[in-house]
Amino acid sequence: MKNSPSSGERYDRSYFDRWYRDPQTRVKSSAGIRRKAALALSVAEYYLERPIRTILDVGCGEGNWLPALRSFRPKIRYTGVDASSYAVERFGKNRNIRLGSFATLEELGLDEEYDLIVCSDTLFYLPLEELKVGLDSLAHRATGVAFLELYTEEDSLIGDFPKEGLQSAAYYRRLLKNHGFCSVGSHCYLGPDMAERAMQMEGQN
Ligand SMILES: C[S@@+](CC[C@H](N)C(=O)[O-])C[C@H]1O[C@@H](n2cnc3c(N)ncnc32)[C@H](O)[C@@H]1O
Repeated sequence: MKNSPSSGERYDRSYFDRWYRDPQTRVKSSAGIRRKAALALSVAEYYLERPIRTILDVGCGEGNWLPALRSFRPKIRYTGVDASSYAVERFGKNRNIRLGSFATLEELGLDEEYDLIVCSDTLFYLPLEELKVGLDSLAHRATGVAFLELYTEEDSLIGDFPKEGLQSAAYYRRLLKNHGFCSVGSHCYLGPDMAERAMQMEGQN
């Protein structure tokens, strides 16, 4: 399954200017991204019981998690993947971002293991079929923690994504559980091989 070229073209420079930079319309801030990065990093290191070394960020956009993560852990190895040719042309080389989609992760020559996998503000844009294919690829690479931010039809949201495709929280919980992810709260999941590390009252599956 491939992403159509137009799905990447939608996320052009004006998209990122609008939602990330223009003070009148932006919904993101570097402080907010830093808080999420700190959360994901702390949960990963808590369960791994060591500093994280490798991060895969899928649907990473301009790779704006990287400066936040590097400020906490300067030596981490970051790999981003995004479907936006604008983002990859502009930031790909400096931030190690590859052009690709959730549907094509197996074709990108990614490593087999990552301490932290990040999918922030992106999974709910995907058609269900692509979400499932992407989760297959991520589950066996998630040797630590995955930050899988998913919004549901029950959440109230601002943005330009197709809300009619959203599913219920119960649906997404089942889907993630079926892929072996164990919820430990606040969009953080232990990968399948880590799931047993969660005490009864930590895990929510
Ligand atoms: C709202 S931005 C989020 C960017 C970044 N993760 C963040 O937290 O700021 C959504 C991103 O998802 C990417 N995207 C959309 N569909 C995708 C797909 N099928 N595969 C990979 N990336 C996709 C877009 O190019 C865009 O960069």
